[in-house]
Amino acid sequence: IYLPERKNSAGLPLVEVSVRRTLLSDIGKALKTPFAAGPIVNGNATTAGDAAALAVSPHDHRERIGTVRLATPQNLEDAITSARNASAHWERTEAAERARILETAADLFERDRATLLAALIREAGKTLDAAQAELREAVDYLRYYAVEARRLLSNSIRLRGPTGEENTLTLRGRGTFACISPWNFPVAIFTGQIAAALAAGNPVIAKPAEQTPISGYLVVKLLHEAGIPRDVLHLVTGGGKLGEALVKDTRVEGVVFTGSGETAWAIQKTLVDRRGAIIPFIAETGGINAMIADSSALPEQVVRDAVRSAFDSAGQRCSAARILFVQDESASRIRSMLAGAIEALDVGDPLDYATDIGPVIDETAQDLLESHKVRMQREAREIVDLAMPEACRAGTYVTPALFEIDRLAKLDHEVFGPILHMIRYQRDQLDKVVAALNATGYGLTLGLHSRIESVAQYVAENARVGNLYINRNQIGAVVGVQPFGGEGLSGTGPKAGGPNYLLRFATERTRSTDI
Ligand code: SER
Repeated sequence: IYLPERKNSAGLPLVEVSVRRTLLSDIGKALKTPFAAGPIVNGNATTAGDAAALAVSPHDHRERIGTVRLATPQNLEDAITSARNASAHWERTEAAERARILETAADLFERDRATLLAALIREAGKTLDAAQAELREAVDYLRYYAVEARRLLSNSIRLRGPTGEENTLTLRGRGTFACISPWNFPVAIFTGQIAAALAAGNPVIAKPAEQTPISGYLVVKLLHEAGIPRDVLHLVTGGGKLGEALVKDTRVEGVVFTGSGETAWAIQKTLVDRRGAIIPFIAETGGINAMIADSSALPEQVVRDAVRSAFDSAGQRCSAARILFVQDESASRIRSMLAGAIEALDVGDPLDYATDIGPVIDETAQDLLESHKVRMQREAREIVDLAMPEACRAGTYVTPALFEIDRLAKLDHEVFGPILHMIRYQRDQLDKVVAALNATGYGLTLGLHSRIESVAQYVAENARVGNLYINRNQIGAVVGVQPFGGEGLSGTGPKAGGPNYLLRFATERTRSTDI
């Protein structure tokens, strides 16, 4: 068992009314001052960037949450030049010192909890519970990669050789890393990528998703405050063009990306086309994730875990369940219980603690999901599609829905929102279900509900997925406990929050001395 000396963040007990009330009041105070985000190059955040544009909340587009400046080409050039010059001093900084700074940052994240939660709730549309879980994950990454840096990068490994020869293997930073992160975890994934790259001794140019620059801005400010040198970590705000210019630059010596498969392919192509060093590309993309429930499973447990897996964070998790395969014998019962559970979900303002489902991120996402619903209404059997509450009409909301489809082929792409599909399968068809899932080429998460040991064994041995969850929900991987990441179309690995992650951010040097 690998148990590094570290505790995951406990968070606040939000079920206690007084705790919640104080936190919500602090979040309200944080929201009184509009956010002002933009590129941070060499620690300079005030003058950089293009003219400021208004940022509005996905909950209500009339709600202005602040202003955002986009990085100019000159900002990017300055960031890359500065990071490259910083490479030598950061790589030579003791791993223990880098780790100490990351641990200081973790404490600062907890100190500024209310501000970070305010950004997650208003910029990304997260519910209070989801926002707190995300903040805890970010804190965990900081502390976890700090411990990992001490373990892996503090000392060389001595290797046996012929007598009279001394051999060592050392891990060192590779050079500037581009960290390109998604809007669905604008604090946790953003922080995790940066923390890993920094821990391994690399300067970083971080590009948050264009939908969530404010969260990224707050994180970079805190990392600088904790002691990450200003020339070692830069923030550039912008969209796909900026990301492309960043990875195209041969001074960038590693790329870590989480987001859509399309963008991963585009980055891969850019890396192939550029000349210069061959560099690591760590990509985490999406999945067509399923949960399988056989007739031995407890229906109450299946329904509870399917609802959580499909609808938490409005289904905007790459780990979320999109399809529930139910064995024919229990399908009708589970379908009606599931419909009831979905009807009980509250859609609304994420600042309201009773809310289960907040908005989706933007109009593009909303349009894609709504057109998927229209297609499903034509091609599938609609079981539930909740009515849109009046109060949600000023934002980008999509109501939770359940459709029964007859085969997996109906889902030819990842449906990134609160829509679950159900498929019945016959008693002797488990192997076909697993084979069909493998044939999608994706391999991120899979849930299994069964009380039959041989079924669990079969699925574990045959399903090509990165994270298999048995008799529980399939979201919310915990740092250091469920290292997270998929296979095939779902990503390259190594797994975030796992003991092998930092290795991909470092280069190995062997020294052999005849003594
Ligand atoms: N790490 C996240 C989860 O496990 C990814 O969506 O849910």
